[in-house]
Amino acid sequence: MLPLRILFASPEVEPFVKAGGLGDMVGALPKELAALGHDVRIICPLYGSVKRVGEWRERAEPLGVEVGPETLWAKVWETTLPGTTVPVYFIEHEWLFGRKEVYSSWPDNAHRFAFFSRAALTVCEQLDWLPEVIHAHDWTVGLLPVMLNTTLRDRPIARAATVFTIHNLEYQGYAPKSIIDFARLPLSEFRADSIESHGQVNMMKAGLYHSTKITTVSPTYAQEIRTPAGGFGLDQVLRYRGGDLLGIVNGIDVGTWNPATDPALPANYSAADMAGKAICKKALQGKLGLAVDANIPLFGVISRFAGQKGLDLLAAALPRVLGVMRVQFAILGSGEAELENAYRAIAAQHPGRVGAHIGFDAGLARLIQAGADVFVMPSRTEPCGLTQMYSMRYGTPPLVRATGGLVDTVENYVESAGTGTGFVFKDATANALYDTIGWACATYYDRREDFAGLQQRGMAQNFAWKVSAEQYVNVYRWAISARERAGT
Ligand code: ADP
Ligand code: GLC
Repeated sequence: MLPLRILFASPEVEPFVKAGGLGDMVGALPKELAALGHDVRIICPLYGSVKRVGEWRERAEPLGVEVGPETLWAKVWETTLPGTTVPVYFIEHEWLFGRKEVYSSWPDNAHRFAFFSRAALTVCEQLDWLPEVIHAHDWTVGLLPVMLNTTLRDRPIARAATVFTIHNLEYQGYAPKSIIDFARLPLSEFRADSIESHGQVNMMKAGLYHSTKITTVSPTYAQEIRTPAGGFGLDQVLRYRGGDLLGIVNGIDVGTWNPATDPALPANYSAADMAGKAICKKALQGKLGLAVDANIPLFGVISRFAGQKGLDLLAAALPRVLGVMRVQFAILGSGEAELENAYRAIAAQHPGRVGAHIGFDAGLARLIQAGADVFVMPSRTEPCGLTQMYSMRYGTPPLVRATGGLVDTVENYVESAGTGTGFVFKDATANALYDTIGWACATYYDRREDFAGLQQRGMAQNFAWKVSAEQYVNVYRWAISARERAGT
């Protein structure tokens, strides 16, 4: 089969910049596509916080981006995804992207990302490299397919098919109507079956209507978002486009997420020799001020503090848990101030038993994956979730709510059969979570062999990107032939 030219247009790419799992996905899938022989390239904005990993080269030619009343001029930097030859282009525009935050809630977010969408297409034209398919990620690049379908229709770049991946339907990118002028889109697109929602422009909806094909990051989430309960107001669109929508579960980068080689850990270990895991636990207890004790179950959390993640349920369950169970908690996260304060307070009330680090810390995240005994993820909704897969790979059985990608990646433990990879509960209530923490705790104390079995089965799972990468290639080909048939 002929190799494909694929452009990833994305607001995040690991290891340069990441706010969540989207960055991990965009930093990992292209490696696998390149290994399959495809010409894949990535484009991302140059925020003030981007880490300049590896060698960077500034392209000589300035980039003129046609937005608003005049052309905005940008610089293009070129580097490669570490360990590969996959080109990564960063668009520098101090005024729009010089700040550190990727998203935040800047009032000009729509302008920033409309500019980025147009810039991504302009870079391809400037490089004289025309992708056959553009893989766009979430609302920030939702206007990109609209540009291709409307004002750029007559340019060669418009032959590109688009695959739009929903990483999280909850964030849709509402923008004032004036964004239409800035993005230089026809006003005729401001209608409910295109880019309009509630009198504004909805960038996610724009992507859903205008992309050739749509994917989301797990099969269960692909079903949930078609229903009024899980569709965040866009279920109708997703049912309408249901024949073009597919759920493909994310993989993980098994090269960088490997307890046997992870340089962030004080000791490495593998399924065959778990001794290093105890050293990681000790280091984690020391780092977060927990009592150093090898025989107390240590529950870990690594999360954005957002309603979606169900950490209010954990905050509500914790006083009872700590009242009756001999357990420890290691919590890493940041986000909603209310949750940050709640976890600070719980940690202060339970010194030696609950350690909370409020912030974003990639090294500590790895130490928690390795040093904890159970990984807690009580999500109300979870499109895919990567941390539960990392935890299984690190021999830390996850405790999850049955939603979205957690259903597709964690198999509930069945005591009588000795099967499963984690502890799963259904109701999004503090009580159900409390009971399940109790179940995990009892398994740890009373059925050590069963607990070890859970660890081993988790570590034996194959979450490598390869299988899903092949599915994406099929979607790209499907999109390309659909675009050709449509004659655009
Ligand atoms: P989401 O993208 O919804 O946040 P995922 O599970 O897909 O959830 O991915 C989260 C990613 O972000 C993981 O790589 C996780 O380790 C990382 N992460 C989340 N919060 C933190 C934090 N406070 N510090 C370091 N890494 C974090
Ligand atoms: C989003 C989702 C998360 C998913 C990630 C990568 O941030 O919240 O569930 O794993 O994207 O696709």
